[in-house]
Amino acid sequence: MHKFENSWLFQREKVDNLSKNISIIKKINSFFKSYNEIRIIDLGTGTGSNFRYLSKKIKYKNQSWTLMDLSKSSLNEAKKNIVINNKIKKINLKHDDIIKNIHQHTFKDYDLVTGSAFLDIMPLDWFNKFYKLNTNTKLVYFSINYDGYFKFFPKHNLDKDVLKLFNNDQKSKKNNKNKAVGPDCSDIINNCFSKTHKCYLFKSNWTDVKNKKFQLMFLDFCEKIIKKNRKTNLLDWIEFRKDNIINNKSKLSVNNKDFLAIKI
Ligand SMILES: C[S@@+](CC[C@H](N)C(=O)[O-])C[C@H]1O[C@@H](n2cnc3c(N)ncnc32)[C@H](O)[C@@H]1O
Repeated sequence: MHKFENSWLFQREKVDNLSKNISIIKKINSFFKSYNEIRIIDLGTGTGSNFRYLSKKIKYKNQSWTLMDLSKSSLNEAKKNIVINNKIKKINLKHDDIIKNIHQHTFKDYDLVTGSAFLDIMPLDWFNKFYKLNTNTKLVYFSINYDGYFKFFPKHNLDKDVLKLFNNDQKSKKNNKNKAVGPDCSDIINNCFSKTHKCYLFKSNWTDVKNKKFQLMFLDFCEKIIKKNRKTNLLDWIEFRKDNIINNKSKLSVNNKDFLAIKI
């Protein structure tokens, strides 16, 4: 998924919220129990979905948030959709490229560094740079990390071929710039932070999603990948899937993981 349309980010927000692993939220709340103020940065915030979710889920008051993204248009949407509650003290919007400018960042000012549906699009060398800048960060939490498997119901004999193509594409260059790690992201971040943090990986799968618009948007990503790779033999699969979605006979599941690191 190379370009993140705001409409897709809004569409997936509800599904992501239902999928995020609640055990991790409990651990975050338990960690911050004695804090008077919590400073949080959300990397690749998009339209602000992770901020809206987490600011409600974190029980404690005096949250100061920085929402950061490369896309001005998404940041504008995030700004429009900021929902202030009595726990939020301050919100700062930051337009930046966290790959290109990683060394201009210090994460020392944050108690929690977070992101959602973000890690899989980062390149391999970014992880080590990010880790080195965060060896003392108290909590690092990345949710909805694509884990390399999705399935539509009903089955089709080309399912495996499409999945393979999709996963290869996730690891391809984004905007002709950086090669992303794709489905390996959870293992890579876990290996980095295990040296200095207690790490957790929990499932955050999208399970049996029946929403038509959501499925059609996901299918559209698949179609673009098939066309880009000129795998015209897989276009029958798209037609089969569209037909089933439109006729309310389809559901979609996608495997994701949530990652939490707590400084030892
Ligand atoms: C799949 S979207 C997820 C957005 C949001 N976190 C959510 O859960 O809806 C990935 C986001 O990362 C942003 N992004 C991609 N590369 C980036 C970079 N180098 N620096 C900052 N943000 C980036 C994109 O603009 C996009 O908003």
